[in-house]
Amino acid sequence: MENCAVILAGGQGKRMKSNKPKALCEVLFKPMVDWTIDAARDAGIKDICVVTGHLHEMLEAHLDGETETAFQSERLGTGHAVMQAAPFIEKFKGGNVLILNGDCPLMDGDTIERALAYHTKSDNALTVISAKVENPFGYGRIVRDDGGFLKEIVEEKDASDEQKAISEVNSGAYWFKVDVLLDALSKITNDNNQNEYYLTDCIEIAISENLKASAYTAKNSDVVLGANDRIQLLDLNDKLRIKYLQFQMLQGVDIPCSEGVIIGPDVEIGTDTRILPGTVLLGDTVIGSNCVIGPNSYITDTEVGNNVILDNVVADKSSVGDECDLGPFVHLRPNSFIKSDVHIGNFVEIKNSTIDDGTKVSHLTYVGDSDLGKNINMGCGCVTVNFDGQQKHRTTIGDGSFIGCNTNLISPVHLGKFCYTAAGSTIDKDVPDYSLAIARNHQTNKEGWVKDNDKIRNMD
Ligand code: UD1
Ligand code: CA
Repeated sequence: MENCAVILAGGQGKRMKSNKPKALCEVLFKPMVDWTIDAARDAGIKDICVVTGHLHEMLEAHLDGETETAFQSERLGTGHAVMQAAPFIEKFKGGNVLILNGDCPLMDGDTIERALAYHTKSDNALTVISAKVENPFGYGRIVRDDGGFLKEIVEEKDASDEQKAISEVNSGAYWFKVDVLLDALSKITNDNNQNEYYLTDCIEIAISENLKASAYTAKNSDVVLGANDRIQLLDLNDKLRIKYLQFQMLQGVDIPCSEGVIIGPDVEIGTDTRILPGTVLLGDTVIGSNCVIGPNSYITDTEVGNNVILDNVVADKSSVGDECDLGPFVHLRPNSFIKSDVHIGNFVEIKNSTIDDGTKVSHLTYVGDSDLGKNINMGCGCVTVNFDGQQKHRTTIGDGSFIGCNTNLISPVHLGKFCYTAAGSTIDKDVPDYSLAIARNHQTNKEGWVKDNDKIRNMD
């Protein structure tokens, strides 16, 4: 029998002071609910149902059919939330169901798998994932009997002083036999200090029916950590940030100073690449070996080759080939494909363009909707004038061309190979191969004009 998972994400999270449901609040730029979905998937669970509630349309739109959803129209507690998913859970009778809190993004696939192995081996009716923490405040406490067997879980608001001193807490993640959960859910009440239907009451019910229930203590106690406000969210960010930096360093990535360095979980980086302060690498970014990335670079969904320098670069949905040197202060907007051995220098913006091998775009230039060939030199301050107010047009420049400083290329326009343009030209006609294009007025010097017209400027 296949196992399934239910993720509880109906809560508002008032203390986040957000216009989004709490589960969409982000840790390392990824919504908390996505971390929990990925943890379940990492543990090999295919069928997942997310319980939505507060601002459910927003959460449903985000999930976009990636998981099933069950709507909880009022927030009556974690037990009530799971009840809303009963029609989904029923399909897995005979199997096990994993319950996860949508606001605990540090839970991981490894812990879930180990807990399942323990649950199955012990033939438990239910297994709670617990952890021992320094500050148990706010969590449900794991209460054990004199023999050390699990007795019940008591919430902070219902706990006696003696129970509050217990440092073993409930992570909010559990493995249940499906039939046990469905039966216990039908028996819980809201007779407690919060008038909520607590999922945790299922444990006492199962134990009173002589079913086998125990706690699996996670090796990594961080898995219990949740976020109820932005301060706790920062704490989770710090934890996951360090986790992924350590992962990269163990793969041979050099991070001499981690200040402001954030590397997303799906980023791949080659050995001996150095990441400098203030650098954020996100999404499906892949970076080769022996690169220097940063300082202050923000790279999203971009593929970078080997031996590349990205100094103060912002890049999104683009690619940069081997041996390129970009920066300082370069912006690659989406669909910029920079091939090999290209130099792009100070204050250059590239958008939706291809720049072929060996080309140099050194200073103060805009290249948009263009295809630049090999070994071109773009002078300082060139602009591809790609927008006529209504439509975007393309510019092409052939191999070996030399574009003089401050040239405007009014697109659509095509320059052949080995062309030159005179500095300051505004080119609006195609230029054939091997031609020099000059498109500017001749200079006239009016000798003595300043004195004759009494125009000498006051130097004081
Ligand atoms: C819960 C556990 C507590 C555990 C802690 C771990 C209960 C009664 N308590 O407490 O033992 O230590 O998690 O983080 O289960 N939710 C809904 N609908 C509701 C209520 C909650 O979908 O009606 C969702 C929330 O969005 C959240 C999750 O369930 O993702 C947990 O709810 P929350 O209110 O945060 O429970 P805790 O008080 O943290
Ligand atoms: Ca919580």
